[in-house]
Amino acid sequence: MNDQQKTSVHLPFSDKYTDSHSQEYFQKHNEKKLSDRMEHRMAQRALALAGHPSSVLDLPCGTGRFWSMLAQDPKRELLAADYSEAMLEVARKTRDPALVGRFRLLQCSAFEITLPDDSVDCIFSIRLMHHIGESSNRVAMLREFHRVSRDTVVLSLWVNGNYKAWRRRKLEAARRQRGEKSDNRFIVPRAQFEQECRQAGFEVVGHVDFLPRLFMWRAYVLRKKSI
Ligand SMILES: C[S@@+](CC[C@H](N)C(=O)[O-])C[C@H]1O[C@@H](n2cnc3c(N)ncnc32)[C@H](O)[C@@H]1O
Repeated sequence: MNDQQKTSVHLPFSDKYTDSHSQEYFQKHNEKKLSDRMEHRMAQRALALAGHPSSVLDLPCGTGRFWSMLAQDPKRELLAADYSEAMLEVARKTRDPALVGRFRLLQCSAFEITLPDDSVDCIFSIRLMHHIGESSNRVAMLREFHRVSRDTVVLSLWVNGNYKAWRRRKLEAARRQRGEKSDNRFIVPRAQFEQECRQAGFEVVGHVDFLPRLFMWRAYVLRKKSI
């Protein structure tokens, strides 16, 4: 995609990560020990499926929840980006300075990454795609990942085909009936998302589920299709 074809997407949920919300996000995840460990395990298995990439862009990095894991390989080149300067600031302040020093930090949107084409081996994107409700916006983000990654993408989102998704659909229907607004988090049918990945120029290498058939979180591993 050239610059003229590119349209910048801005989603209202992106503005909620203020100073206070960023602190709360850090605290909340710091306390959820078991689910945090399981999510790390899911991400680690997905990175292995991606071939243990030697350069990784963590986008959105949030408060740096995955930095220790990503930095376990001492030779890995590490970059981290987030739309929210407040989230980046919490990461800088709360993580070990030696760990922070391993990362090149950028403030930018995942729809408009301030890096040249083919900058990293892998884009690692945890807990962003489930906030994107429109198919055209998901494809726009995937296309931007395709531009910046040389090889793979690891990303997590909520998919259908499990107990939690079935339960959430019922809760969403009840919410709509009461006239309540969406909480800006969406379940995407697996087949539809995989089609969107292909549309953006990726093949699906595989996936890792948080807890198969029970939970909605799935990490996909995508590889750029050879032309
Ligand atoms: C649920 S948090 C996930 C952060 C981190 N990956 C984690 O799992 O802890 C969502 C993050 O997306 C960031 N964000 C929101 N809109 C964004 C955008 N358009 N581009 C990049 N980051 C965005 C927020 O600032 C926030 O840090």
